[in-house]
Amino acid sequence: MENTNKISQSYEIINDSLDAIYGSGTDIVDPFYKKLFEEYPGSEDGFHDSVSIQGNMLNEIMGTFLAIAAGESWVENFVHEQVVAHRGYADIPLAQYRRALDLFVTVLAEAAGEKWRAEWSRCWREQADALFSIVERYY
Ligand code: HEM
Repeated sequence: MENTNKISQSYEIINDSLDAIYGSGTDIVDPFYKKLFEEYPGSEDGFHDSVSIQGNMLNEIMGTFLAIAAGESWVENFVHEQVVAHRGYADIPLAQYRRALDLFVTVLAEAAGEKWRAEWSRCWREQADALFSIVERYY
């Protein structure tokens, strides 16, 4: 029961923050990949059709965060499949997965600007930790 409450609370907090993120009209794709590729030069080479695939990947990451917050049980299998698929895309260090999830939250906060709240940060970072634990399990 406590866990169910925690899940619905997280989902609500994440949803509240989405209004501020999307309401700002900021496209997070460019800032996210700019930061990621600056820290891991050469990793852009793995993206064959950069514009659409990079956008799709961020959509999937967003969907995965929301699903984790909602306690969806399919996330485990989905992330497992992604980790296996990514082995074929490029040599991606585990630390880059960790960093990518942190950068994702950072660009959301930047997009929301002054509206961003500490409570949202905590909640997004909790989902990032949960997502990273799944990546780590199957890496
Ligand atoms: C948990 C985090 C991640 C998730 C959920 C995820 C998800 C995805 C998905 C769904 C695709 C396929 C998109 C499509 O075909 O349209 C994709 C592609 C890709 N991802 Fe990720 N990704 C994650 C982290 C990363 C990281 C950290 C890197 C490091 C650079 C990375 C590199 C790639 C590459 C290179 C492709 C493109 C492969 C190609 O062009 O054929 N991913 N990702």
